[in-house]
Amino acid sequence: MSTENLFTKTVGIEIPVICGAMYPCSNPELIASVSESGGLGIVQPLSLVYVYSYDFREGLKKIKELTQKPFGMNVIVEKNIKAYENRMKEWVDIALEEGVRFFITALGDPSWVIDKVKKQGGTVYHDVTERKWAEKVMKTGVDGLLCVNNRAGGHAGKHTAETLYANLKDLGLPLICAGGISTPEHFESALKMGYLGVQMGTRFIATHQCQAHQDYKEAILKARESDIVLTERVTGVPLSVIRTPHVDKVGLSVGPVARFFFRFRKSRHWVRFLFNLKSVMSMKKTNLKGLSTKDYYQAGKSVEGISQIEDAGTIVRRFGESFRNSR
Ligand SMILES: Cc1cc2nc3c(=O)[nH]c(=O)nc-3n(C[C@H](O)[C@H](O)[C@H](O)COP(=O)(O)O)c2cc1C
Repeated sequence: MSTENLFTKTVGIEIPVICGAMYPCSNPELIASVSESGGLGIVQPLSLVYVYSYDFREGLKKIKELTQKPFGMNVIVEKNIKAYENRMKEWVDIALEEGVRFFITALGDPSWVIDKVKKQGGTVYHDVTERKWAEKVMKTGVDGLLCVNNRAGGHAGKHTAETLYANLKDLGLPLICAGGISTPEHFESALKMGYLGVQMGTRFIATHQCQAHQDYKEAILKARESDIVLTERVTGVPLSVIRTPHVDKVGLSVGPVARFFFRFRKSRHWVRFLFNLKSVMSMKKTNLKGLSTKDYYQAGKSVEGISQIEDAGTIVRRFGESFRNSR
């Protein structure tokens, strides 16, 4: 019986489990450990450079010292900020030079990433939360879609995993389920729906390899699904976080001034950028130093299935057993 599918074959991995990019939780040791165990770790470039202080190429080399297996890179496409776009283009070139061949794009138009990656024979999947975005990026030649559902950590989607699959399956692209997965049972149910694999974020924060602060990991172990709320206050768009006394105190929505600017396309990008700068600084602090009263712990509803801090490789191998049994 085959223990491969189109996704594992294309990317060159054994188990269709991705450790999603996480700002600020993607450190080289976590990425390498997931890849070395047969899954696929993804580099979050801002995390690598600004949180873990690597020169971008050196950070990739560090991962390559720890594993010779494939890993990928996340590219958040933001066109309206030139300096950011130029830096991202430079990093994609470096990643290609260092042998990275799998890219996950998010937000804007991924055409320039696809142009560069296709020339080197690589693969590009794009994050989508609904059909209208999927139809838009289909025209750019993406190879697959990462379907972000309403249980995801980070910026959650609106639809359930089932609805999203039903809305996208006729597009004929490989679909990966992102959101709400933390146990082999969740994984098996996503595979049964028709997804070719899963992307997990929250589950991999509560691992020995993730360098997030112990307080953050323990908050994930303690949290129940009902403790997860969506706040606009970190990045200006709904972000999935654990409810804390600070979250209760400041509320979940942005104030009238930011709301006014969000109504205009140009200013919206700038407001989002400023929000991001603010959140980058505050999340970096939370991640590395623990909880202070103003902090946010990003996590998705998959907290419900997480009861211990584990080795990232053990998690991947457990999912691997499920994958083989499901074939
Ligand atoms: C702390 C955190 C940070 C994240 N940062 C990013 C990011 O920088 N880029 C991105 O494309 N997705 C990001 N995500 C989304 C994850 O890659 C993944 O899709 C999501 O966590 C899946 O949901 P789960 O947390 O329920 O497993 C983040 C998620 C979390 C929990």
